[in-house]
Amino acid sequence: MAGLFAAHLRELGYEADPDLDADMQDFPSGYGGAGGRFLVAVDGHDRVVGMAGIRDGEIRRLYVGPGHRGGGLGRRLVQELAGRWLETHGGRVRAVVARSNLAARRLFQRCGFTATGRAPADDRMRHCEIFERAFSCGS
Ligand SMILES: CC(C)(COP(=O)(O)OP(=O)(O)OC[C@H]1O[C@@H](n2cnc3c(N)ncnc32)[C@H](O)[C@@H]1OP(=O)(O)O)[C@@H](O)C(=O)NCCC(=O)NCCS
Repeated sequence: MAGLFAAHLRELGYEADPDLDADMQDFPSGYGGAGGRFLVAVDGHDRVVGMAGIRDGEIRRLYVGPGHRGGGLGRRLVQELAGRWLETHGGRVRAVVARSNLAARRLFQRCGFTATGRAPADDRMRHCEIFERAFSCGS
């Protein structure tokens, strides 16, 4: 998990931040609250090749290893987390996506999310946009 998280940060060009990344420093308790959930995908040798979590209605830490992309794994992780959250809690699910991350933007749109045009309140995330999916959207 630590290796995959490091690769995730590296690929997106982020430095680890003890504040923004507290959920991964204290993993898995960062996802242990009500409705929190973290999924990992493993290959035939039990190696972790993909991950994604949800807490407080936000999908986070979506990452698929480079050798495992393009086969629907990212979509399955997102659909499973979003679908279960909406069935259980209703309302909306959101994700924060860099405006330059075309693959992730497309993936969330294909999963029924809509780009809101809004950036997160935290100024460190001003290059990102909030995507949302409401309960009524199909999965
Ligand atoms: C984004 C990411 C999770 C996609 O994972 P994946 O398993 O390859 O995605 P899928 O195969 O499930 O693709 C789902 C949809 O996403 C879109 N997509 C995925 N990769 C894409 C790419 N490189 N370019 C354009 N669209 C892409 C496609 O629309 C695809 O559906 P479609 O083929 O039916 O149109 C993966 O590229 C990744 O881990 N990237 C680095 C980390 C990251 O960006 N995380 C997201 C942070 S918000």
